[in-house]
Amino acid sequence: MLTRVCFLTISKTVSVNTVRNITGMSKFDLPNRLKGNEKSVWVEYIQLALQYKPLNLGQGFPDYYAPENVTNALATVAKSDNPLLQQYTRGFGHPRLVNAIAKFYSKLINRDLDPNKEVLVTAGAYEALYSSLQGHTNLGDEWIVIEPFFDCYVPMIQTAGGIPRFIALKPKSTSGTVTSGDWVFDRKEMEGLFNEKTKGIVINTPHNPIGKIFTLDELQFIADLAKKWNVLVISDEVYEHIVYEPYKHIRMANLLHNLQVVHQNSVYTCTTPTQEAVAIGFELEMERLEQPDCYFRSLAMELLPKRDYMAKFLQEVGMVPTIPEGGYFMLANWSALENKVKLNEETDASKDYRFTKWMTKNVGLQGIPPTAFYGPEHKTLAEDYVRYCFIKKDENLKAAAKILKKWVSQ
Ligand SMILES: Cc1ncc(COP(=O)(O)O)c(C=O)c1O
Repeated sequence: MLTRVCFLTISKTVSVNTVRNITGMSKFDLPNRLKGNEKSVWVEYIQLALQYKPLNLGQGFPDYYAPENVTNALATVAKSDNPLLQQYTRGFGHPRLVNAIAKFYSKLINRDLDPNKEVLVTAGAYEALYSSLQGHTNLGDEWIVIEPFFDCYVPMIQTAGGIPRFIALKPKSTSGTVTSGDWVFDRKEMEGLFNEKTKGIVINTPHNPIGKIFTLDELQFIADLAKKWNVLVISDEVYEHIVYEPYKHIRMANLLHNLQVVHQNSVYTCTTPTQEAVAIGFELEMERLEQPDCYFRSLAMELLPKRDYMAKFLQEVGMVPTIPEGGYFMLANWSALENKVKLNEETDASKDYRFTKWMTKNVGLQGIPPTAFYGPEHKTLAEDYVRYCFIKKDENLKAAAKILKKWVSQ
């Protein structure tokens, strides 16, 4: 195996040089449909964190354990006396898991879902988005994308042959207490983006990075346009269970057949032991759905004090945070601190990249530059902001507050 890999590498190098000498380009260059998507903020910032070892509030994951019932179930499945739990399962989703999901969502959307026809288990939301966009895009199709957007939407649209059309959420105010509900889209501008080439619109609610929960009125406006132009709505709702009182998450419908075609010919099936363990987790949560200790309820309650703690310390150091209605990210405007940052020591084009890199290297705290979530024309709208993640241990949030306070007092 190893020998074969080496052989491939060597032969590729030789061919690349040979072909390049003649034509100026190589048949092994990145295919055109992938060009322009080489840069990834996650790849770059994980590398930066490994190198400088800051307190990392950049990446969106908890720095503590997943619920014990799920990790215990996974350990039990790994040692199960049923060897089939370690092998391929049904491609569109492990039977126990699709049954649990169908039962769970039937209750939430108040409609009976068929586990075998209306549920597809994917490798994360990434694959669900990929299958949705690959499965519904013809060359030249336009997709409306709301900025800031989770950064994979655009490469996924472009590699499927589509064209992203952008519209930015803008804050109605930028001082005092700003909440994610203050970030809105211009309705005339939105209306103007729909045309006969539009294939669909991607929305994300609760929103990353703003934490906005789209209102019924906003979603109705989008749904009416979608109906008028006969287009799809892809609704990315990965943070659906992290919603702070009194806000309510509103779900939109979805389609499945085309996604199944993409899934069956790419990932085919997600790992069986994980699906079995997640199914066991769902079954337990379903029994206690109305109780406060149900994970889908307790998660937001657990995160609320973390959200408020972060908002307070960011305000105390002079940043203007947007208080999120959902999710676990906080966008903060740092422009009042610009004179404390040596932006000219960094070389990136966008100020937020320079700010976050300088902070990582010199102050020891990492956030994510939100211009990564904008198309080329609107990046300037986000240059004064940073995204921090607050699904972190209290001790690490306290350490972040201490780092920032020490820095601003110097
Ligand atoms: C809005 C949004 N969509 C999709 C994803 C990808 O989710 P997953 O990790 O489940 O693939 C993320 C992850 O951060 C996200 O924030």
